Amino acid sequence: MSAPKILIQFDTDKSCSTFDAVVAVDSGVQHLLQYSNVNSENVVGLVHGAMFTRGPDQLKNTAIFVGGSNVADGEKLVAKIRETFFGPVRVSVMLDSNGANTTAAAAVLSAAKHVDLATCRAVVLGGTGPVGQRVARLILRQGGYVNLVSRNLERATATCWAINSQVEGGSERLQAIVSDSPSRLAACMQDANVVFACGAAGVTLLDEETLAASEQLLVAIDLNAVPPAGIAGIGVMDKAVQRGSRLDYGAIGVGGLKMKIHRAAIAAMFEKNDRVFDAEEILAVGLELLK
Ligand SMILES: NC(=O)c1ccc[n+]([C@@H]2O[C@H](COP(=O)([O-])OP(=O)(O)OC[C@H]3O[C@@H](n4cnc5c(N)ncnc54)[C@H](OP(=O)(O)O)[C@@H]3O)[C@@H](O)[C@H]2O)c1
Repeated sequence: MSAPKILIQFDTDKSCSTFDAVVAVDSGVQHLLQYSNVNSENVVGLVHGAMFTRGPDQLKNTAIFVGGSNVADGEKLVAKIRETFFGPVRVSVMLDSNGANTTAAAAVLSAAKHVDLATCRAVVLGGTGPVGQRVARLILRQGGYVNLVSRNLERATATCWAINSQVEGGSERLQAIVSDSPSRLAACMQDANVVFACGAAGVTLLDEETLAASEQLLVAIDLNAVPPAGIAGIGVMDKAVQRGSRLDYGAIGVGGLKMKIHRAAIAAMFEKNDRVFDAEEILAVGLELLK
């Protein structure tokens, strides 16, 4: 008989995310155990509890979800959790701090409905943030080209270095761009066939004039849900809304797919006891959903 599915929710914030808890329940989890204020200093004992309670054939029915508002803290936590496992004594783990992985995967998959990721030329606005970094990484891993845009060249360059260290052969296809003048941004938009606005909430990164002048653009995706829009003229509810030769997506337009991906990734954790779901694995879950 199969043991009940237990999801252990580790949150790096002082209160566990109710959003992540509801999605867990909606994904078929039978018991949700929640721990807040979890960090790499206090997580080891909690992980031992997950590792040593069930036999090898039942370990796949226990899984760990890492959330919280700070993506860097979540990454450190996942590294410590993985370090704590040994041999086959492990459970599956998913990282989705601040929704960064599921959001990036949903954005990239929305674009993939209309452009070939293996050859696409993407501009990632707000590319230094957790979502933008993942969007850039996912596209590079698929073979596409990325201009990663920031207000600050040093930040953009440092982010590109970090991504290059994670993606073999990505450096020739990734360029750091500073958006210090409208003409520089317009120049980098000239060749783009897809743009992702991954800037902070409530900040407009691309104006209507530059958008309209970007003649190669087939898809524009704005992940900012807080007015004003990240890409001027895109509605938050847009979902493949045709404007000229371009299809537009707003944050809520991408959100339905994000929710499906989140639920499917939680369910997939219970298939085996040794899976790690970071952005790439979550994208793969989404690709399966779209087949
Ligand atoms: N639907 C969802 O479930 C969901 C989940 C997660 C995130 N999101 C949305 O996705 C977007 C990206 O999220 P994130 O957490 O990666 O964003 P973030 O870290 O808050 O910001 C991303 C980048 O935006 C730039 N930025 C910050 N303030 C700015 C300003 N005043 N003017 C211009 N640029 C500014 C910064 O880049 P530089 O300083 O390098 O220029 C920053 O690295 C946000 O709009 C967020 O709300 C949605």
